[in-house]
Amino acid sequence: MARASLKLKSASCQIAYWKGGKLQIANYLTRRTFSTHPATLNVIRFFFTPRMIQDALLEFRTYDRESVAKSILQLIDAQLLLEYGSAEWERDELVRSSWKPWLPEGGFHFMTKDTPYVPWDWPIEEKMKTLPATPAPPQFKTIRGADAVRLLPSHEIAGDTFFETLHARRTHREFARGKVSLENVSKLLQTTWGVQGYLPTNVFEELPYKTSPSGGARHPGEVYLMALRVDGLERGMYHYQARDHRLARLPAKVTPRLASAYCADQPYFAGAAALFIMTAVFARTMWKYGRARAYRVVLLETGHLCQTFCLTATRLGLAPFSTAALKDSLIEKDLGIDGISESVLYVAGVGLVAAPGSGLRRALS
Ligand SMILES: Cc1cc2nc3c(=O)[nH]c(=O)nc-3n(C[C@H](O)[C@H](O)[C@H](O)COP(=O)(O)O)c2cc1C
Repeated sequence: MARASLKLKSASCQIAYWKGGKLQIANYLTRRTFSTHPATLNVIRFFFTPRMIQDALLEFRTYDRESVAKSILQLIDAQLLLEYGSAEWERDELVRSSWKPWLPEGGFHFMTKDTPYVPWDWPIEEKMKTLPATPAPPQFKTIRGADAVRLLPSHEIAGDTFFETLHARRTHREFARGKVSLENVSKLLQTTWGVQGYLPTNVFEELPYKTSPSGGARHPGEVYLMALRVDGLERGMYHYQARDHRLARLPAKVTPRLASAYCADQPYFAGAAALFIMTAVFARTMWKYGRARAYRVVLLETGHLCQTFCLTATRLGLAPFSTAALKDSLIEKDLGIDGISESVLYVAGVGLVAAPGSGLRRALS
C-alpha cells in the first residue's frame, strides 16, 4: 500500500492507443501495458507535476474517493505513476532527457527489448504452432507483364579473393574446440571497428573513417569482446577502444554458458571462441540528426559492421555467426552500460571451423 505522503510523478515513457475498443496505456521503458477508462488520463495528467496522493483526492473530490484511490494504486502497479526520486523515476528521466529528440517514435527501441523467444529445444511441431496458419509469402517477387532483360551469367569468381570470400560466408553454429589467435581477433577488430583515418572538417572537427559507412561519419557503434578461447588473451570481457586500437578489461566474468545465455539461450554459440557485442551510443547520431528516422540509421550501420565482420572472419578462415536474439538487459548489466544512452543491438562471433557436418539443419529446425 502506497504511503499517503509519497510524492508521485507520471512516467514520461508512456504512449496511449486503442485496441479492440479499449484504451491501452503502455510504459514503453518498463514494457507494462495497462487497459483503462479514458477518465484515468486526467489522473495521469495531474501527476505530471510531482504530487501526493492526498492532493489527487482533493483535486478529484467530486469523484468517488475510493475509485480515485483505486485507479492511483492501479497506475502505480502499472508503473505509469512512479515514486518521485526513485530509481525507476531516474531511469524514466534519463530516457526523457537523453532520447528527447527521438520520442515518442524512439519508444520502439525500448518496447522491443528483452523479447521472450521460442525456446530452442521445443519440438518442431510446437515451434510450427507459433507460425500463422497461412502459407509463407513467396520468396521472390515477379512483375507480371513486364519486359524481361536477360543478364550476363554470374561472375567468374575463381581466383578473385573478394568474390570468393563473399560467396564463402555462411552462418556457423558448430565450432572446433581450439582457440582463435589474438592476431586474428586484432584483425577482426581493426578491420571492422578500427579507425582507418581522420577526415578534417570545418564544422565537426576531425571525423573518423572506418571500413563501413556511417551517416554523417557519426559512428555510433561500440564493440565489446567476450574472449572465451583467444590464444594470448586472458578469458574475459573487454571494451575495444577504437581510437587507440587497444582493449580495456572490464570486471564482468565470462563463461560459454553465459555466451549462450546472452544469445537468448541458443546453445550453439556456447561453442564460439569469442563474441563481439555491438552497442550504439545514440547521442552521437542524435546530436546531429534530431529526427527519429535517424534511429533507423543506427540499426542500418550495425548491419554494415556485422557484414564486414563476417566477411573478414571468412577471409581469415574462421567460422562467423551473427544473432539479434539477445537478452538485452542481462548483457547491458554485465557491460556496465545503462541500456538507454548506450544499448546493445547485435552480437557476432567466431570460432574455428568445425569438421564437415554442420549443425545448420538442426539449428534451423
Ligand atoms: C539480423 C539477423 C539475425 C539473426 N539471428 C540469428 C539467430 O538468432 N540464430 C541463428 O542461428 N542465426 C541467426 N541469423 C543467421 C540466419 O539464420 C542466417 O543468416 C540464414 O539462415 C542464412 O544463412 P547464411 O547466413 O549461412 O547465408 C541471423 C541473421 C541476421 C541477419
